Amino acid sequence: PVDAGPAAAPRVKLVLLGDSGVGKSCLVLRYVRGQFDESSKVTVGAAFMSHSVQVQDGTVVKFEIWDTAGQERYSSLAPLYYRGASAAAIVYDVTNPESFAKAKYWVSELQKNASGDIVIVLVGNKTDLAELREVSAEEGQEYAAQNPPMLFIESSAKTAANVSRIFETVAETFC
Ligand code: GTP
Ligand code: MG
Repeated sequence: PVDAGPAAAPRVKLVLLGDSGVGKSCLVLRYVRGQFDESSKVTVGAAFMSHSVQVQDGTVVKFEIWDTAGQERYSSLAPLYYRGASAAAIVYDVTNPESFAKAKYWVSELQKNASGDIVIVLVGNKTDLAELREVSAEEGQEYAAQNPPMLFIESSAKTAANVSRIFETVAETFC
């Protein structure tokens, strides 16, 4: 019927997880405000932001984004944020293999303890540092493919490359 209003915008609680320094807060800042902070401060506890995105078919998805603290001392808080989350972005730094190992740890943690239908996107960040890269795109892609239906994207919060794609590809799975 023509007078039926639009369906309520899906709300998606998305949690960002990953080692300290991989660029989680910078990705959120880039996505929500279009800015980059060269001297970003470590996150204490967690930070919250919301942002709406319109996907191809016109549906608006409202993200409620929980940007967690990657430092080890905060790791026990993570379940507070990923429990009840419908999506997770697990971020590593393509110049830092240890952060890739930590990303795999977060994947197994979510597979054990998060909602069975949580949408996971694996994000390899800092692609602008091409000459320092130590984790290839193939490694990331392969790991995601071994854990379907995991999504995989490489990004740079610094140049903005692929940052909105992270959120758009997640949003599309909710439409
Ligand atoms: P915690 O809050 O401790 O968990 O760290 P975080 O993952 O939120 O890292 P944050 O976003 O604060 O970024 C850490 C550092 O990496 C900062 O110096 C950023 O400027 C830098 N950084 C973030 N993203 C990028 C990127 O895409 N490219 C480059 N070159 N540097 C980046
Ligand atoms: Mg942070």
